[in-house]
Amino acid sequence: MPKVRFDDEEVEVPAGITLLDAALDNGIALDHNCGGNCACSSCHVIIIEGMENLSEMRDDEEDMLDTAVGLTLQSRLACQSQVKGDVRVTIPPKPAI
Ligand code: FES
Repeated sequence: MPKVRFDDEEVEVPAGITLLDAALDNGIALDHNCGGNCACSSCHVIIIEGMENLSEMRDDEEDMLDTAVGLTLQSRLACQSQVKGDVRVTIPPKPAI
Protein backbone atom coordinates (compact mmCIF):
# COMPACT_ATOMS: atom_id res chain seq x y z
CA MET A 1 0.00 0.00 0.00
CA PRO A 2 1.27 3.50 -0.77
CA LYS A 3 2.53 5.62 2.10
CA VAL A 4 1.48 9.24 2.40
CA ARG A 5 3.32 11.54 4.76
CA PHE A 6 1.35 14.61 5.82
CA ASP A 7 3.88 16.87 7.54
CA ASP A 8 4.87 14.78 10.61
CA GLU A 9 2.36 11.98 10.20
CA GLU A 10 2.74 8.99 7.87
CA VAL A 11 -0.16 6.76 6.92
CA GLU A 12 -0.64 3.77 4.60
CA VAL A 13 -3.53 4.09 2.20
CA PRO A 14 -5.13 2.03 -0.56
CA ALA A 15 -4.01 2.95 -4.08
CA GLY A 16 -6.52 5.19 -5.84
CA ILE A 17 -7.69 7.05 -2.76
CA THR A 18 -7.55 10.83 -2.95
CA LEU A 19 -5.16 12.76 -0.74
CA LEU A 20 -8.22 14.34 0.90
CA ASP A 21 -9.73 10.98 1.85
CA ALA A 22 -6.31 9.70 2.91
CA ALA A 23 -6.11 12.59 5.37
CA LEU A 24 -9.68 12.48 6.63
CA ASP A 25 -9.73 8.67 7.00
CA ASN A 26 -6.70 8.96 9.27
CA GLY A 27 -7.87 11.85 11.44
CA ILE A 28 -5.68 14.44 9.77
CA ALA A 29 -7.40 17.81 9.56
CA LEU A 30 -7.63 19.16 6.03
CA ASP A 31 -10.16 21.78 4.99
CA HIS A 32 -12.60 20.71 2.27
CA ASN A 33 -15.19 23.45 2.07
CA CYS A 34 -16.89 22.21 -1.11
CA GLY A 35 -16.94 18.59 0.02
CA GLY A 36 -14.29 17.43 -2.42
CA ASN A 37 -16.00 18.63 -5.60
CA CYS A 38 -13.25 20.77 -7.11
CA ALA A 39 -15.27 23.90 -6.39
CA CYS A 40 -13.01 25.67 -3.89
CA SER A 41 -9.30 25.63 -3.10
CA SER A 42 -9.45 24.97 0.63
CA CYS A 43 -7.91 21.50 0.24
CA HIS A 44 -4.74 22.98 -1.31
CA VAL A 45 -1.63 20.99 -0.42
CA ILE A 46 1.99 21.21 -1.52
CA ILE A 47 3.73 18.07 -2.74
CA ILE A 48 7.25 17.76 -1.30
CA GLU A 49 8.04 14.41 -2.94
CA GLY A 50 6.22 12.01 -5.22
CA MET A 51 4.32 14.28 -7.62
CA GLU A 52 4.81 11.50 -10.19
CA ASN A 53 2.88 9.17 -7.87
CA LEU A 54 -0.32 11.20 -8.13
CA SER A 55 -2.96 11.22 -10.86
CA GLU A 56 -2.51 13.79 -13.61
CA MET A 57 -3.94 17.24 -13.00
CA ARG A 58 -7.09 17.92 -15.00
CA ASP A 59 -8.05 21.31 -16.42
CA ASP A 60 -10.78 21.94 -13.82
CA GLU A 61 -8.32 21.30 -10.98
CA GLU A 62 -5.79 23.62 -12.60
CA ASP A 63 -8.41 26.38 -12.94
CA MET A 64 -9.54 26.05 -9.33
CA LEU A 65 -5.98 25.78 -8.03
CA ASP A 66 -5.28 29.22 -9.50
CA THR A 67 -7.44 30.65 -6.69
CA ALA A 68 -5.40 28.99 -3.92
CA VAL A 69 -3.56 31.21 -1.46
CA GLY A 70 0.19 30.55 -1.53
CA LEU A 71 0.13 28.68 -4.84
CA THR A 72 3.40 26.95 -5.79
CA LEU A 73 4.57 24.86 -8.73
CA GLN A 74 4.14 21.81 -6.48
CA SER A 75 0.57 22.63 -5.46
CA ARG A 76 -2.39 20.26 -5.88
CA LEU A 77 -5.95 20.06 -4.72
CA ALA A 78 -6.07 17.13 -2.32
CA CYS A 79 -9.58 16.10 -3.36
CA GLN A 80 -8.53 15.74 -7.00
CA SER A 81 -5.20 13.96 -6.46
CA GLN A 82 -5.38 10.19 -6.46
CA VAL A 83 -2.54 8.34 -4.81
CA LYS A 84 -0.63 5.80 -6.94
CA GLY A 85 2.54 5.52 -4.85
CA ASP A 86 4.44 7.09 -1.97
CA VAL A 87 3.94 10.83 -1.53
CA ARG A 88 5.13 13.46 0.93
CA VAL A 89 2.81 16.41 1.44
CA THR A 90 2.70 19.56 3.47
CA ILE A 91 -0.54 21.29 4.38
CA PRO A 92 0.08 25.03 4.05
CA PRO A 93 -0.91 27.20 7.01
CA LYS A 94 -4.15 29.08 6.55
CA PRO A 95 -3.76 32.85 6.22
CA ALA A 96 -4.94 34.92 9.17
CA ILE A 97 -8.23 36.64 8.41
S1 FES B 1 -12.45 20.36 -1.22
FE1 FES B 1 -13.02 21.99 -2.50
S2 FES B 1 -11.66 21.76 -4.16
FE2 FES B 1 -11.06 20.16 -2.86
